[in-house]
Amino acid sequence: MENPFNYTGIVRGNAFCNRQTEQTELLRFIKGSQNVLLYSHRRYGKSSLIYKIFNRLERQRPKIDTLYVELYGTLSEKDFVSAILASLNQIESKLEKLVKLVQSTLRTVKIGMSIDPITGSPGVSVSFDSGYNEAMLSNVLGLLGKISGKRKLMVVFDEFQEIAGYRQEGFEKRLRAIIQQHENISYFFCGSQRHILTEIFINKNRAFYKLAQSYPLAKIQTDQYVPWAQKLFLKTGSKIEAQLLEEIVARCENHPMYVQQFFFFLWEEKVRELSIDTVDEIERRILQSSQNEFLNLWDSLTLNQKKTLKLIILTGGREMFYANALQAVDLNAGSQVTRSLEKLVGDDIVLKNNDYKIQDVMFKKWMQAFLLK
Ligand SMILES: Nc1ncnc2c1ncn2[C@@H]1O[C@H](COP(=O)(O)OP(=O)(O)O)[C@@H](O)[C@H]1O
Ligand SMILES: [Mg+2]
Repeated sequence: MENPFNYTGIVRGNAFCNRQTEQTELLRFIKGSQNVLLYSHRRYGKSSLIYKIFNRLERQRPKIDTLYVELYGTLSEKDFVSAILASLNQIESKLEKLVKLVQSTLRTVKIGMSIDPITGSPGVSVSFDSGYNEAMLSNVLGLLGKISGKRKLMVVFDEFQEIAGYRQEGFEKRLRAIIQQHENISYFFCGSQRHILTEIFINKNRAFYKLAQSYPLAKIQTDQYVPWAQKLFLKTGSKIEAQLLEEIVARCENHPMYVQQFFFFLWEEKVRELSIDTVDEIERRILQSSQNEFLNLWDSLTLNQKKTLKLIILTGGREMFYANALQAVDLNAGSQVTRSLEKLVGDDIVLKNNDYKIQDVMFKKWMQAFLLK
């Protein structure tokens, strides 16, 4: 049997663990045409959950249409409109009909077939013959409204935090004005940079204030992971002790991507007797394989930010401002720590609750192993 675990993309089928409560709750919002702000840190499983929900909606009657709009890498309102247009083939797969549909409201936009150079899969190309104008945003959204006149629609804007970088005047206001009129569409705004998203949706002075139900996606619980993984390992006849799996989940602090990565490597081991030594070895390999990413991140930090991370590791993120703690990492003023923490929390590198915590468990382990020996 092929390795069922996957840590680099959307997980489906066997590789998808639980999320039952989330599915039930989100389906309820969709049926009620509510808008949802679905957010979490990177690699917690937002996109996978969205595809799982799509899959369930496919089997619902009356049918609910779905549209997945990938906003990662979009830089402007024009890119945003392009991304929606390029996704429309999910609803209308026949090119001729699609062209007709688009040209009914966007006469100067050309739609064609394209082949993704990386995956080789067919897609839609979009070109704006006589340039972009602001009316196109309302036209393309109007098209969604029109489609939803026939049946309910779920529209997902993934990586929605990208819109914070657009420079077009009044983009959010115009988007909101149209979205509000769509009573038969459930819009999902998904994203991972919490401070950007909360700024867009929670700040009273922003257009998106209270436009969507907030839905933070948590990690997956240990008591869900263990039986799920055990069952998958059993398919090849390996019975793995629950205790060992619990140890792995705990080492990953329940982080969905790292848990999958660990299990992926564990599957490849194919040894009869798995011990804690194997687990140690796999952990070393995961740290090695992330070496470049972590080095880049580390290099991007200022000296005081690096010292502050070290301080968090040394103190466990509590009582960090005592003179002897500061001295231990060569910081001489609490204000330096305060400023660094502000930036680190803003960038989602550090989490602030009652204490301070390094968000990425493997980054923390990497610093401990390679930098702070
Ligand atoms: N329900 C799940 N069960 C098990 N693993 C998951 C689940 N959801 C996500 N993962 C793991 O996390 C990784 C990232 O998932 P993804 O959906 O791309 O997250 P996000 O969109 O939040 O960045 C996946 O490749 C997979 O390894
Ligand atoms: Mg995603």
